[in-house]
Amino acid sequence: VTAPDLAGRHVVVSAGGTREPLDPVRYLGNRSSGKQGYALAKAAAARGARVTLVEANTGLPDPAGVDVVHTGTAVQLREAVLKAAADADAVVMAAAVADFRPATYAPGKIKKTDDGGAPTIELVRNPDILAELSADRALPGQVVVGFAAETDDVLANGRAKLARKGCDLLVVNEVGERKTFGSEENEAVVLAADGTETPVPYGPKEALAETVWDLVLPRLRERTT
Ligand code: C5P
Repeated sequence: VTAPDLAGRHVVVSAGGTREPLDPVRYLGNRSSGKQGYALAKAAAARGARVTLVEANTGLPDPAGVDVVHTGTAVQLREAVLKAAADADAVVMAAAVADFRPATYAPGKIKKTDDGGAPTIELVRNPDILAELSADRALPGQVVVGFAAETDDVLANGRAKLARKGCDLLVVNEVGERKTFGSEENEAVVLAADGTETPVPYGPKEALAETVWDLVLPRLRERTT
């Protein structure tokens, strides 16, 4: 039996990967499956929280007892997360948000030309939702958690990213062959702004989800109700 230690709390979790359209049939996307975010949402619901899950392109069924908002692009995901975060005790950004989007959307399918050339796609920056959430907390003491997939110098890069984003916790994954994307398992280190490091051994994404909530719990502000 799970202790309802998140009862009375509202938590927001983002999951999946954004797709940035180029034309009606093409997009720039990424390999995020959404499984880690869904595991986080289900774990929080089982621990008694009211959960808003903002998903992008996962194709996963809505978990029971969770409010799910379906989005597609980074801009849409940002809108939905900021709206849900207005009264949230904690926000966990597990979604893989595209850093860039095509500068223009072609209303008709981009065609090949007879000269054998190829188009140049101009990109613009997307807003950094995690940095924004961390800088402008909707509620004092709101706990903000980010994820980072790194391929090398995992801890050093993770520490720098935690400071740059300004979040309370950063779950750092080493991206490897069988780990992380699309897999059922994950291995991570959770870095905290107070300097603590919590290694999470290779195992199911459900176990990492529980560890994240275990670390969020003592950082939540006092409940007033
Ligand atoms: O900078 P990087 O993309 O590695 O950071 C990953 C973290 O930042 C994730 O928590 C992701 O959800 C979040 N992010 C975001 N907005 C972006 C890019 C990433 O919130 N535009």
